[in-house]
Amino acid sequence: MEEHSLKKIFSYCVVPVATAFSLYFGLTNSVVNAGDLNKIFKDTCELCHGPDGKGSEAGKQFGVPDFSNADYQKSRTDAQMKESMTNGTKNPNYVKLSDLGVDLADLDGLIKIVREFCK
Ligand code: HEC
Repeated sequence: MEEHSLKKIFSYCVVPVATAFSLYFGLTNSVVNAGDLNKIFKDTCELCHGPDGKGSEAGKQFGVPDFSNADYQKSRTDAQMKESMTNGTKNPNYVKLSDLGVDLADLDGLIKIVREFCK
């Protein structure tokens, strides 16, 4: 009897504990993701956009905008950037980012990185 009710209490407790753990890991995971986005930028975007967002030599020839330029930043909304990144632009040198292996779910985070080049 005694043992039985203990078991019962235990089984009630397992659920919240498991939830707490998955929340914890979920949070840790989103921190890791933020680092991953910086890594994606470094590995995939810097080639054309440069480490400072101003554009690499190759990127300038392709016609990249200067992300550190306030006038450029003001000229584009997040939605417009997202549209370019999702579908490419009229510029034939700009391929849609999914062609570079970028997960479209990461675009919002990448736009934040792009915005941070101009402070
Ligand atoms: C092969 C070169 C190249 C790579 C790699 C590249 N871009 Fe670009 N990017 C361009 C060019 C060129 C433009 C300008 C397109 C235009 O003006 O039509 C551009 C424009 C942009 C814009 C501005 C779009 C707008 O509407 O103003 C954003 C944001 C952007 N890139 C983000 C990224 C991110 C994030 C990555 C990495 C995941 C990336 N790019 C990788 C060449 C590149």
